[in-house]
Amino acid sequence: MNAKQAAAHRAVQYIEDGMIIGLGTGSTSYWAIRYLGEKVKQGMRITAIATSDETERLGLQCGIKFSKMDAVEHIDIDIDGADEIDQQRNLIKGGGGALLREKIVAAGSKTFIVIADESKMVGVLGRFPLPVEIIPFGWQHTARRLLLLGCKTIIRQKEAKPFITDNGNYILDCHFASIPDPVALQQQINNIPGVVENGLFVKMATRIVIGYDDGTVKEFS
Ligand code: A5P
Repeated sequence: MNAKQAAAHRAVQYIEDGMIIGLGTGSTSYWAIRYLGEKVKQGMRITAIATSDETERLGLQCGIKFSKMDAVEHIDIDIDGADEIDQQRNLIKGGGGALLREKIVAAGSKTFIVIADESKMVGVLGRFPLPVEIIPFGWQHTARRLLLLGCKTIIRQKEAKPFITDNGNYILDCHFASIPDPVALQQQINNIPGVVENGLFVKMATRIVIGYDDGTVKEFS
């Protein structure tokens, strides 16, 4: 079992019969979906909410039943990956472009468990470019306003065209190098017209599960 698998496997142990589960996006969440699929095949009954179309496709292949976010009042446990994690459990997310739905699902969850390998742990957030989901209309104006916050912005591309999120928006990857005050920055970014949401997840994670290459796991909350 590699580091990502170990973290995902541990997190899935928190899931109990009858729960409503948020399922994240990315290569670590992939393993959580696979392990949860095994439990479902063994008879566990859960309802899942997907944070992306990709996750829903994979979950359905694994035999997991999905509901719509608006059909549930709350989610019991959300399990998702991260691009960076600091000691205060603040995160950068959105490397896979799913940050908006990921944040809505995390915010609607009683418990938000973050799974990652140890490479994701950092002292200060910001080396990983911060993904910001923006409306396509006037996006270059939105990018210029983000520049004023002290970052370099790069429009995310796929096959030489802007990458389109599941919500029909663009992603700007914002290179700050260091984010010493994520609380202030998330507010500044979200105040810019044209910004839908940013990839800073501040004080949202309940528990962090870190996997290591030797298959061991450490948790903190
Ligand atoms: C998806 O948009 C992201 O937030 C992912 O959760 C994050 O990029 C972590 O992905 P990996 O588990 O693939 O590293």
